[in-house]
Amino acid sequence: MHSVVRQYVVGGEVINALNGVDLTIQRGEMVAIMGPSGSGKSTAMNIIGCLDKPTSGTYVLDGYDVSTLTDDQQAYMRNTKIGFVFQNYNLLPRTTALENVELPMMYAGVPVRERRHRAMEALARVGLEHRMGNRPNELSGGQQQRVSIARAIVNHPVLILADEPTGALDSHSTEELLHLFEGLHQQGQTILIVTHEPDVAAHAKRVVRFRDGKVESDTSTTADPITKETS
Ligand SMILES: Nc1ncnc2c1ncn2[C@@H]1O[C@H](COP(=O)(O)OP(=O)(O)OP(=O)(O)O)[C@@H](O)[C@H]1O
Ligand SMILES: [Mg+2]
Repeated sequence: MHSVVRQYVVGGEVINALNGVDLTIQRGEMVAIMGPSGSGKSTAMNIIGCLDKPTSGTYVLDGYDVSTLTDDQQAYMRNTKIGFVFQNYNLLPRTTALENVELPMMYAGVPVRERRHRAMEALARVGLEHRMGNRPNELSGGQQQRVSIARAIVNHPVLILADEPTGALDSHSTEELLHLFEGLHQQGQTILIVTHEPDVAAHAKRVVRFRDGKVESDTSTTADPITKETS
C-alpha cells in the first residue's frame, strides 16, 4: 500500500486512523504487525483484507489496484484471495467442522464434490481428520482455531490475515497454532499476523510496528546467516 490515509469523521471531528502508510508485503513472507491500542492495526488489516478502502492512497493486491474496484469486485477479491483467521474463530455454531470449511468455497462457486474433497484435505492438514463431523461447541478452543485455519487455507488464498489469532488460546494451543503457521509459511504461504504478544511476533521473520496511524518501524528479525558470517 502506498500513502494510505483512512479518515473517520465522528461528530464533525476528523480522526486519521491511518495517516500515510507505505507498506509492501512480498509473496511468501510471514509478517507480524504490532503497536499500541488505537495505532491503526485493525484499520490497516481491514484495507489489506478488502473489507474497507483508503480515503486516499492506493492499495494493490496480487496486481490489482483494490482502491479503484467496485464493491462487488472488492468482495470477489476478498472471497478468493484472502483467508481470515480471527481471535474468536468466527465459526458457524450449528454447523460441523467440515461444513464450516466448505463455506468459503460456496462463495467462490466450487462444485459440491470438489468442495467436500478439498474441505476434508484442509482439515487433515491441520490434524483434524477425526473431528470433521463435530460442531464448534464439541471442540476445544485450539481445535476451533484449527478449523478456522482450515477454512482460511481451503481456497488457496494469496494471503492469510490473522488478527490476534492466539488471543483466546492457552500457551499449549498457541504453540500448536504457531507451528501450523510456520508449516504453511515454509510451503510458501504469505501470512500477516496482528499480535500483542512478543512470543508470537518472534516467530515472524519481519515485525512492522504501528504508532499513531503510521509505520513506526519495520524490522527483519532473522539475520541471513551467510551475511552474518562474512560481515
Ligand atoms: N469505525 C470507526 N469510526 C471512528 N473511529 C474509528 C473507527 N474504527 C477505528 N477508529 C479509530 O481509529 C483509530 C485506529 O483504530 P484501530 O482499530 O485500527 O486500532 P488498533 O491498532 O487495531 O487497536 P487495538 O490494538 O485496540 O485493536 C483509533 O483512534 C480508533 O478510535
Ligand atoms: Mg485492533
